[in-house]
Amino acid sequence: MPLTRRRLLQSSAGLALLSSCGAPTGTPDSGPDEPVPSPARSPEPSPWSAPGTLDDVAFDRGMQVGDVGPSGAMISIRTAEPALTLVLMREEADGWIEVSRTPVTGGDGGAQLALDGLEPDTAYTACFYAPDDTRRCAPSRFRTALEEGAARIVTFGASSCFGGNRPWPTLSFAAAEQLDFFVLLGDTVYADGAETVADYRVFWDEALSTGGLRALCSSTSLVATWDDHEVGNDWSPETDAVIAVAALQAFREALPIAGEPIWRALRWGDAVELFVLDCRGERRDGDYVSPEQMAWLQDALAASPARFKIIVNSVPITHFAGTALSDYFDDQRWQGFPAQREEILAFIRDQEIGGVVWLAGDFHFGLLARVDPAGGAGEDAWEVLAGPGGSFLNPIVELLDDTDRFPVAFGAFNYVRFSADPGTGTLSVAWIGDDGAIIDEAVLEV
Ligand SMILES: [Fe+2]
Repeated sequence: MPLTRRRLLQSSAGLALLSSCGAPTGTPDSGPDEPVPSPARSPEPSPWSAPGTLDDVAFDRGMQVGDVGPSGAMISIRTAEPALTLVLMREEADGWIEVSRTPVTGGDGGAQLALDGLEPDTAYTACFYAPDDTRRCAPSRFRTALEEGAARIVTFGASSCFGGNRPWPTLSFAAAEQLDFFVLLGDTVYADGAETVADYRVFWDEALSTGGLRALCSSTSLVATWDDHEVGNDWSPETDAVIAVAALQAFREALPIAGEPIWRALRWGDAVELFVLDCRGERRDGDYVSPEQMAWLQDALAASPARFKIIVNSVPITHFAGTALSDYFDDQRWQGFPAQREEILAFIRDQEIGGVVWLAGDFHFGLLARVDPAGGAGEDAWEVLAGPGGSFLNPIVELLDDTDRFPVAFGAFNYVRFSADPGTGTLSVAWIGDDGAIIDEAVLEV
């Protein structure tokens, strides 16, 4: 495992190194226009102490909150309980107040609902109760997004590729951070071989009842996309359309997603906007993403006022030419679709869209990469690879020894913790291992 090194990495004009005990080099000159750090999030009250008794049999899969906005959130639960009550609590200066009590119909597929009328940048806690009003699930805390025009430091996490190594200890350390949100980059389940909705639900029930993910879902909201193993290894919508329908239903039951397409944008005021891609479900006619998804991504990036634009990408866009990975499975990633890859990278470069960082999983190692070697359209762009949280570790990372192109590269279970400061334009990135310690870290100026 590499020594922890903290680096300051600028998106252009090369790279400056910063040791953990030394002074930064290559930082912008101090002066009257020196960036001013944004405020941190306001402190939250102690966790809400839910009355009643935790029923860890009926509610063994906890509950999930997803896709929060400044005034809304999606909530779901997987339980066989037929009738439920959702209790929603909101933070106040002197503690928690009850906001609402909503009857909800449960059943085999569980229940899912959309909350609205919430206050921006505010901590909430939700909890489902059984009809007797005493048995309940473990409550989930979440925080609503910043409203338009607002900015503060936003902290969030990301990981991918779970599978073995239960109970996914790195996620329990993420849970302790009470992050603003957490991104699941795909391969949350390895459901290869499943065919029906019932088959797929078994995999999701196992995942949602695993300790690390349960703790995470109690601590913050999710932003999820899928990769291949939510359906089957390297699946294609052109050949696996039938099982994909069943897989998509189970995926959407388990992880609450707002709206219809998986590709969507989620904004945290003027600080961070997430552009969540569907890199698997629209591969048709030689395209990696549909023309509609590509047009949406370009329009949304160009229109975004957010200081940081994080493209949530289940499979890396980094070009590995000249490395040990070279064309390794490149028909499964952007590199094997050079026209669309060039189109999006050249668009970002030519439109001078600032603050873009690519975020991916899939490769089963931690990495910070320049998206392109020198001369490529993505030479100034960075990509962060997060995870695996539990699936196998890919030893090929040991061969990525070009520290200019790959300043961080290691093989260990991890989640990535981001701290995005819109005031200074710095994105701090830390890869956190199964023991809760930082494996490696970097600071990106984008
Ligand atoms: Fe994976």
